[in-house]
Amino acid sequence: MHRFEAYLQSHLPKVASFHPIFEAALAEMLLAGGKRFRPMLLLDVVDAYEPMLVEGSMPVALALEMFHTYSLIHDDLPAMDDAPLRRGHPTLHSHYDEATAILVGDALNTDAFYLIAKAPLREDIKIRLVELLAYSGGSSGMVLGQALDCYFENTPLALEQIKTLHTNKTAKLIAASLQMGAVIVQLGRETEENLYRFGLDLGLLFQIQDDIIDVTMSDEEAGKTTGNDTKKNSFVNLLGLEESMAQADLLAKDLQRQFESFDTRLQAALDPLMRHYLNRHKG
Ligand code: IPE
Ligand code: IPE
Ligand code: MG
Ligand code: MG
Ligand code: MG
Repeated sequence: MHRFEAYLQSHLPKVASFHPIFEAALAEMLLAGGKRFRPMLLLDVVDAYEPMLVEGSMPVALALEMFHTYSLIHDDLPAMDDAPLRRGHPTLHSHYDEATAILVGDALNTDAFYLIAKAPLREDIKIRLVELLAYSGGSSGMVLGQALDCYFENTPLALEQIKTLHTNKTAKLIAASLQMGAVIVQLGRETEENLYRFGLDLGLLFQIQDDIIDVTMSDEEAGKTTGNDTKKNSFVNLLGLEESMAQADLLAKDLQRQFESFDTRLQAALDPLMRHYLNRHKG
């Protein structure tokens, strides 16, 4: 098992209360799995430069996964995508009720910042980590993206607007994961910003691939409710499946070029993750 998975399992949020199911509900979607893409991005950057800091970065990696999991739990609610399946399991609002799902999401969001605050890292570094997660996750990032996604359901947007939507709802958190790793190992502003820019492109590719999954995979294959984007401003709805796949390939090629300009240590550490995402539609 990867170190992150072991860390997650032994550091699940604890709830000291007589509430009969809240602690279990809080852990449920975290334990259900997922690719752990965001924590792995952060940990790979740290591992490339300061392997000794990987352990101290675990709470930050877990914070990213908790924040992302909160976004999924709320995304699946009846008021948003109304999806019964996530990570191969019934969504929280289907298993329990809507109030529980909303509150588990709220708790994971807030607790993520608590974990960063308590991490065994320098105080000034932790302030920057909080800043980056808040910026990329809130009203200038993921939440804004979700607001655009929901508000413009049934209203077709233009390609540039869809890119803006995808960049906010998905790419900024992915970009922040890379930049937060760079902040922990103090790579300097220029490298941080390069990694953030690369992360925005990587995140856009990730969401295009996700839109493709919605039309090409079954619920069972994806582990989540698919065929669910019919009224959405998805890449596939605007461009069609073939053209979306072609765009994904173009973006993957461009990302590969950017990746090859990175420091060799960073390339070596990120290679397994990148290989998977940059080659997904080849062949
Ligand atoms: C799904 O994210 C939602 C998007 C932002 C595309 P992931 O594809 O990373 O979901 P998990 O974490 O593997 O379940
Ligand atoms: C949601 O995008 C992205 C988030 C910020 C949660 P989607 O609605 O396409 O994600 P899935 O397909 O349900 O995982
Ligand atoms: Mg959605
Ligand atoms: Mg959804
Ligand atoms: Mg989707």
